[in-house]
Amino acid sequence: MNFTQPIIDDFDYVVFGGTGDLARRKLLPALYHRDADGQLPAASRIIGSARAEMTRKQFQTLVHKSLTEFVGAKALDKASLSRFLDRLHYVSCDATADHGWAELATLLNNEPRKVRIFYLATAPELYGAIADTIKRHALNTPETRIVLEKPIGHDLASARDINDRVGAVFDERTIFRIDHYLGKETVQNLLVLRFANSLFEPVWNHNGIDHVQITVAETVGVEDRGGYYDHTGALRDMIQNHLMQLLCLVAMEPPASLDRESVRDEKIKVLHALAPITPADIATKSVRGQYRAGAINGNPVKAYADEHDIAPGSTTETFAALKVEVKNWRWAGVPFYLRSGKRMPEKVSEIVIQFKPVPYWIFPTGSDQAQPNRLVIRVQPNEHIRLHLWTKEPGPGGLRLRNAPLNLSFAETFKEHLPDAYERLLMDVVRGNATLFMRRDEVEAAWQWTETIIDAWKNAGDRPRLYTAGTWGPTEAIAMIVRDNRSWFDEQAGEPIQS
Ligand code: BG6
Repeated sequence: MNFTQPIIDDFDYVVFGGTGDLARRKLLPALYHRDADGQLPAASRIIGSARAEMTRKQFQTLVHKSLTEFVGAKALDKASLSRFLDRLHYVSCDATADHGWAELATLLNNEPRKVRIFYLATAPELYGAIADTIKRHALNTPETRIVLEKPIGHDLASARDINDRVGAVFDERTIFRIDHYLGKETVQNLLVLRFANSLFEPVWNHNGIDHVQITVAETVGVEDRGGYYDHTGALRDMIQNHLMQLLCLVAMEPPASLDRESVRDEKIKVLHALAPITPADIATKSVRGQYRAGAINGNPVKAYADEHDIAPGSTTETFAALKVEVKNWRWAGVPFYLRSGKRMPEKVSEIVIQFKPVPYWIFPTGSDQAQPNRLVIRVQPNEHIRLHLWTKEPGPGGLRLRNAPLNLSFAETFKEHLPDAYERLLMDVVRGNATLFMRRDEVEAAWQWTETIIDAWKNAGDRPRLYTAGTWGPTEAIAMIVRDNRSWFDEQAGEPIQS
């Protein structure tokens, strides 16, 4: 890899939930990539921990298998793999009792100056208990940090409870609440685009922008996470965190610097400026959906109701769309349309900034079809930023306009391996850089706003509209935006050509 990477200090990464899905799919592959790129110092170790009894050798074998699956056998470098496996240790610990903790303490070897990280990739109900146990065993050294995976609770009260309990053991500066969307390359690029270029800021407001769309669509269903998902739903699982973070980055004022507090201070102002979606609004500003059987890329898939671990008659939403208003000077009158769903026709996360039309169209015909400029920030896949501009089609005879995107493609720049969001974020934790992590007040403000919608749905007995797997959600989500004379952006549909 040809980008420069900051030197980091020696560390011990203790991953609770070390044999779980997240660790195997994301965390361990991310650490492997950083190691293969030469970023991990020699004495750094990774300590997996879970309830299951397992030897170090068995854990190494499990991780080897996971890397083969999720990094890819071909991409694994023999020397890097063997160095990485050597860093691995395993301790069986019970999060809620003392079993295993003395062994963990011995392994950590009382090294107060070594960076120590506790990564909690477990159910959030265990976060408080793990923090208590860390305290009881005096494992919180001055160089210790704790990482909390989302979701931080399932509502405001449970989030506060987790924050209180973890906060009783760890100083806020050492708590890293992760939202992996903030580690995605294009999401960070959004900050650079907005604040390193003078071009956009003068039009980045209600004078220049008509509306904003944020779409996070997935083709996967709930897979084997039915037990978790059925109590969660799309609003809690995706919108309360990932989409709201994206919204904050689009809408926030320029921070004074990139330090941890400046960026987070600006994001929280956006959250505080969100107009609540009240019971009177839910019919016009929100849509919930649940997938029925259908097909993705020609492959039949079953209905949500028939997935494993889903309660009979479940009303959990697998799709949600919202019309959000940011009540402040910059954004008055500019709607933000958010949507996220499972079992959509393609996996795509993108932000679309739709600019206002020119005040007067001087070109002879077709003015009714002219799409105003658009900035498309494609978070994944094929990461890119595209600015859709009108240009003249070359050639004599008639004046034909063509919508030609100015294209910045990151996927092409990082042909071999576009770093995963977790790679950046896991190293930021070691470096103590919390700019891309959520502060306590942000998480709580996001829950507070989301909870109003959850309560309104519940009190109205709102049932999700069914949509066929492999479509863009219920027709009501299309109607919601069409009512405002707008439409969801569809890159495949292309732009009309004027003549
Ligand atoms: C997680 C959600 O936070 O994000 C999952 O819990 C979702 O339900 C995932 O599938 C999507 O992440 P990504 O990086 O694949 O877009």
